[in-house]
Amino acid sequence: MSSDFDPTGDDPIAANRIRTPGIDDDPIPVDAEVRVHDARAEVEDLDKSLRPPTLADFVNQVQVTEQLGIFIEAARRRGEPLDHVLLAGPPGLGKTSLANIVAAELGVPLVQTAGPALERKADVASFLTALEPGSVFFIDEIHRLGRAVEETLYPAMEDGELPVVLGQGAGARTVTLPLPPFTLIGATTRAGLLTTPLRDRFGVSHRLEHYAPEHLALIVERSAGILEVEIDAAGAHTIASRSRGTPRVANRLLKRVRDYSEVRGTGTIDASLAAEALAMLEVDEAGLDRADRALLDAVATKFGGGPVGLSTLAIAVGEEADTIEDVLEPYLLQQGLLKRTPRGRVLTQRAYDHLGLAAPEGAASLF
Ligand SMILES: Nc1ncnc2c1ncn2[C@@H]1O[C@H](COP(=O)(O)OP(=O)(O)OP(=O)(O)O)[C@@H](O)[C@H]1O
Ligand SMILES: [Mg+2]
Repeated sequence: MSSDFDPTGDDPIAANRIRTPGIDDDPIPVDAEVRVHDARAEVEDLDKSLRPPTLADFVNQVQVTEQLGIFIEAARRRGEPLDHVLLAGPPGLGKTSLANIVAAELGVPLVQTAGPALERKADVASFLTALEPGSVFFIDEIHRLGRAVEETLYPAMEDGELPVVLGQGAGARTVTLPLPPFTLIGATTRAGLLTTPLRDRFGVSHRLEHYAPEHLALIVERSAGILEVEIDAAGAHTIASRSRGTPRVANRLLKRVRDYSEVRGTGTIDASLAAEALAMLEVDEAGLDRADRALLDAVATKFGGGPVGLSTLAIAVGEEADTIEDVLEPYLLQQGLLKRTPRGRVLTQRAYDHLGLAAPEGAASLF
């Protein structure tokens, strides 16, 4: 979930899915590789063009944009770097976009990396010492930093200095390198996995939440404008209400509905055309796709409605446990279709209604 470019392409069903090593990584013939590369570059460009460039374009999450706007303005007036910012929340809600916006609004460069890429202390040191003063240093998936690397960040964040050990054995000594002032922006889909010392070093912390359909509709309309697709308000609302509260999904569905409309439609995307296209994509009225329904269905039919543990469920539906926890579950929990209990995941009455199944005897005590 780290990169702006999702290697699964822009298939809405595959949106946000993690690749399965060994299955997704089949060798690609050389000329196909070139084509895949081009197609990916195109998707990447499109994703970038849909990214909101300023805080004013960043739809919804009003407290977030309002607060960040004030902090950015204050930092700019004082001529100081912005305090370190932690952005948490499910994939596709705008963390990377916000990091880019913050850098753009501060008028400073953004240097981007991700937790798993920072394997050694030296990796962090080479990034930090090379920063232009005032830069934003963006670490995606910050919950995946190794312990030693994380500890290197503490003095860097707090005191703007980096202790480095020179030499080895008895002759080793520690020198402290002063660092250029910088703003660290950390993004995470799992705020819960962050250690307290790291979390405490962020002066600003925001949790992005799923978007309401009316806000997603604004995003769909804006993206349609950029993609030069004609869509009416009802069409935008239809797509928005089935996008799992997630701007990235809304944009992907819009692109697929556009394809459908170009081939089958009359030009403008209205509510009925959007509904037809989404039905073909197997996205239902609640915005659930095949993978979501397979998960709910498995809990209902294979585990009697639960409770079922995450790893057992992952095997039953053939998904990675991380994918379930990061991508599928947050929306199902938020929609009240699934519940987490100390003993495992449990289906709710609402989920049975959605699946058109009767809840088993005694299930009500778990709801
Ligand atoms: N508030 C918003 N307004 C308009 N578009 C948005 C907004 N938030 C996200 N988007 C769109 O959704 C896409 C995904 O957003 P982004 O990459 O910033 O999410 P993310 O939180 O970083 O996801 P991940 O956790 O997977 O890295 C962006 O390319 C952008 O087009
Ligand atoms: Mg991101």
